[in-house]
Amino acid sequence: MKAKLNQYTPEIEPHMQSHLAAIVEAVYQKYGYDFRQYSEAHIKRRIMNRMAMSGLEDISQMPSKILNDEEFAFKLLQDLSITVTEMFRDPGFYRSLRENVIPILRTYPFIKIWHAGCSTGEEAYSMAIILQEEGLYDRTAIYATDFNQRALNRAKEGIFSNKLMKEYTANYQLSGGKESFSDYYTSNYDHVIMNQSLKKNIVWANHNLVTDSVFAEVHLILCRNVLIYFERELQNKTQKLFYDSLINGGILCLGAKEGLRFTDLYEKYIELDKKQRIFKKKY
Ligand SMILES: C[S@@+](CC[C@H](N)C(=O)[O-])C[C@H]1O[C@@H](n2cnc3c(N)ncnc32)[C@H](O)[C@@H]1O
Repeated sequence: MKAKLNQYTPEIEPHMQSHLAAIVEAVYQKYGYDFRQYSEAHIKRRIMNRMAMSGLEDISQMPSKILNDEEFAFKLLQDLSITVTEMFRDPGFYRSLRENVIPILRTYPFIKIWHAGCSTGEEAYSMAIILQEEGLYDRTAIYATDFNQRALNRAKEGIFSNKLMKEYTANYQLSGGKESFSDYYTSNYDHVIMNQSLKKNIVWANHNLVTDSVFAEVHLILCRNVLIYFERELQNKTQKLFYDSLINGGILCLGAKEGLRFTDLYEKYIELDKKQRIFKKKY
């Protein structure tokens, strides 16, 4: 975003760009969260949304509000970190994971998986279910990371609304699920609790893709629906982090609207499944 701030874009006028820049700078200076290279459209949408709810009269008041009102800043941070997720999100992706990635993972004596930007954990639980069904979970460590501690705390609890289970069950079945989805949780009034057996090999950790370095050397990385919020330069930087974290022959999974084609590392992967955005690091 920094680089683009000097340019006029038809979508965002220069005076608005400078307000947005002042706001993300205040967040960075005071709290250390760096949104300076997130997509301007995303930043603007979230800031205007917070503006509408805040009672502030003018956007120029926001930087000082951020510096002086921690509660307000916390709400804005939550807004900027979009945590929307689901179990077996994009079932076709998980079907492909079973068909194309599991056979590769099976060849390793011990498997390490990194979910970068795991939000409230649904993606990591989906992975744990697949690994259990494929008989691989006991030799796997899942590292599930996010920079949103509130989302991570919820992920760790593994408690989800009962209302979502119908949709998640349908996703699970479409993704090639082999059991009864309800076997994986216990219902309790309006919520469900995921089985302890799914949680046992998941390590939840706070990690910021913008400011933190390589997390671990892993066989598989899922970073889905996160890079979509990053400008090109930051996407490149994050892709370098993933490349350095993967073993040779390791697998990278991106979201439905994300890709490698416009990054510096495109040549260093082969496409395992073009449609489902699954890539294999070349040896
Ligand atoms: C839309 S959710 C995607 C969740 C899940 N991967 C999925 O596809 O359903 C995006 C997540 O990325 C996280 N995120 C955004 N920027 C991040 C950063 N710099 N470092 C770590 N996580 C980040 C957000 O907190 C949020 O939980």
